[in-house]
Amino acid sequence: MAKNIQAIRGMHDVLPHSSPHWQYVEQVIKEVLSAYGYSEIRLPIVENTELFKRSIGEVTDIVEKEMYTFADRNGDSLTLRPEGTAGCLRACLEHGLLHNQVHRLWYYGPMFRHERPQKGRYRQFVQLGVETYGMPGPDIDTEILLLSERLWQRLGIREHLELQLNSLGTTEERLLYREKLVEYFTSHSDQLDEDSQRRLMSNPLRILDSKNPQIQQLIANAPMLMDYLGEESKAHFSDLTDTLDELNISYTINPRLVRGLDYYSKTVFEWVTDQLGAQGTVCAGGRYDGLINQLGGKPNYAVGFAMGMERLLALLEAGNRLVNQPTVDVYLIVVGDRAEKASILIAEKFRNDLPKLKLQMHCGGGSFKSQFKKADKSGAEFALILGDDEVDNDKISVKPLRTKNDQQLMTHQEAISLLQQFGD
Ligand code: HAM
Repeated sequence: MAKNIQAIRGMHDVLPHSSPHWQYVEQVIKEVLSAYGYSEIRLPIVENTELFKRSIGEVTDIVEKEMYTFADRNGDSLTLRPEGTAGCLRACLEHGLLHNQVHRLWYYGPMFRHERPQKGRYRQFVQLGVETYGMPGPDIDTEILLLSERLWQRLGIREHLELQLNSLGTTEERLLYREKLVEYFTSHSDQLDEDSQRRLMSNPLRILDSKNPQIQQLIANAPMLMDYLGEESKAHFSDLTDTLDELNISYTINPRLVRGLDYYSKTVFEWVTDQLGAQGTVCAGGRYDGLINQLGGKPNYAVGFAMGMERLLALLEAGNRLVNQPTVDVYLIVVGDRAEKASILIAEKFRNDLPKLKLQMHCGGGSFKSQFKKADKSGAEFALILGDDEVDNDKISVKPLRTKNDQQLMTHQEAISLLQQFGD
């Protein structure tokens, strides 16, 4: 027998019992985003490989080893997007959206990274991304943090998330710091692991992000970027933290937070949880003014974040915060030849009169008993029963499935009135 073909490792199906959970979270996200005046942008899933190399950085895990890159039939090198920031900025530059304008945008969809799959880490995963352009001040940095915090509040998970903040300063400040860091790590290079040795010259800040327990002490004693920030960067950061204090939003300053993508400057942040094991970062982002110039645009301002939907859903699941809503209100049981003929028209009549009613019609025959079982299992509030007698008398029987009330024979109009609660 032929072997079944399975999904690609690290790529998952969302099955029908889970998709209502996704829809619920997506709905709440959309409500929060529109409360802050953000607009949706829809972007391609495939971009030129060069875009990601230039933006995320050549010496990052993503570009070095995680991209799904292939030559298309013209021989062009294309890549399945590993994240959305680069594509969003590419689109805005291409369509002239950044010139003398301010934008608050969001996008939603699958991203691809060839990482080692484990709980919370997939090769295809969904991100909700938020990107804003044209605003230099810490006010917009604060706004996107407040927006994400409001979302956690709405979803009832605020208590499980910690906001970690850091400032990476300007490019010049980071260059100066980089020199100090290279000096420090070079003088202790015998203690560095192979990965960090490699990063020493190419991307020394990433050594700070190492999870290797053997070099944690060395990292703890390394110079701090905060000590190399200029006045402007310091003021930007303290303005942000002052507003958060005023609003009573708790946060932790994590001077080792450097992020895995190269385009950040000034504010960076992560929302992390201890409920999901090793993959505890649910949402992350920061300011990336310099990337605009790097991709060929005039100097401008940009700040944003992305959240991992699988991790967000896992966090909601861990707290039992996802209730299964029935997918139907009414199940139409159909027994008899004349009933089967009439049922489609009758079901359509109910749907015409009650456009929001969720009515599932039984198809495929079977005994009253077996159909009744299906009606019960569907989670519907009522069964509508159509037998040949009902058809002959132009009536329908209505049986409440969740209360002890009796089944009643009524006209279609009476049944429609009874079901009005679901219909508008
Ligand atoms: P990132 O930190 O690479 O940033 O990803 C953001 C979030 O996506 C992570 O915190 C995590 O929740 C989720 N995520 C990342 N990789 C995986 C994976 N393999 N499996 C499941 N979830 C994952 C960015 O992507 C930036 N573009 C964020 C940004 C937007 N910065 C500014 N604007």
